[in-house]
Amino acid sequence: MNTPPDIVRVAYVDLVVTDLQRARDWWVDLIGFHVQDEAPGVLYLRGYEEFVHHSVVLREGPIAACARIGFRVRTDDCLDRAEKFFRDRGCAVQRVAAGATTGLGEAVRAVDPLGFTLEFVHQMERVEPLVQRYDLRRGASINRLDHVNVATPSIDDSYEVYTDLGFGLSETIEDTADGTLYATWMFRKQTVHDMAFTMGSGPMLHHVAFAVPESHNILGLADVLGAHDQAHWIERGPGRHGVSNAFYLYLRDPDGHRIEIYTTDYFTGDPDHEPIRWDVHDERRRDFWANPIVPTWYSGSVPVLDLDGNPTPIVEQAAKETTAAKKVTVGADGLGTVVDDD
Ligand SMILES: [Fe+2]
Repeated sequence: MNTPPDIVRVAYVDLVVTDLQRARDWWVDLIGFHVQDEAPGVLYLRGYEEFVHHSVVLREGPIAACARIGFRVRTDDCLDRAEKFFRDRGCAVQRVAAGATTGLGEAVRAVDPLGFTLEFVHQMERVEPLVQRYDLRRGASINRLDHVNVATPSIDDSYEVYTDLGFGLSETIEDTADGTLYATWMFRKQTVHDMAFTMGSGPMLHHVAFAVPESHNILGLADVLGAHDQAHWIERGPGRHGVSNAFYLYLRDPDGHRIEIYTTDYFTGDPDHEPIRWDVHDERRRDFWANPIVPTWYSGSVPVLDLDGNPTPIVEQAAKETTAAKKVTVGADGLGTVVDDD
């Protein structure tokens, strides 16, 4: 097997929104992202703990979609390794010149075997640190991009591909009786994850998560949304996850992009770190306090674009499966509900 690129972390997402001014009002004025740069039809955002040009690109386009998920790699050589890794697997690969995206050096774009368009880059423009600009922070006090959660019909395939790509496994949701994997949390940086793979129709983007300093920042954002009579943007939470132990709040932006505000997961960097395996029937896996999950959680993912910017066809994941004893609804992170089949 060829040597995979040395991925440092998931570094940015490139999203399509249908009304850039409306998106700016939401992402910047309400939620509190910092505008690093802008040009006609495009906005470059970052959090206050990010030292490079952006972690979010919002581009105006015809449909809400995820154009690509960006990873920072450790050296320039890793671009060649990324290109070879995906070419050897028969994937579409494209070399992109430095500056094709403002703030980024030369890049390799590839469609992974699951259908997600990834981008690998080493050079990212360094920008003024804002860590202690408390005078500028507002909304959720966004620190940094933490992870991306995607939906795919085959968790087994995603686990295999991303293990080959050098990712570690921190947690799973699985049926411990028969070994069926419903979701995996996989990391390069030494936290719970950079990428989560959840069973569902796909390839689709389920959510993008941003780390904030403390849980009170999440509660504060919820209060601010209430005060502005904008609480309808809240989809789920606040709550404590079972998986990852993080405190969370899920929002949907005006285009339906799902954003998670996230804090206090844990260190995974020890060489003998062992994954935590949650049984799919354990109601604490999604919300540690066993609060019910809203039905929209299992829908509303956005499509991903291919290298030409066209939506990638979606393979439907059956919403219901029947076992000998139970009728179950398969949700984005495993079983949504379990109903006695009588
Ligand atoms: Fe998440």
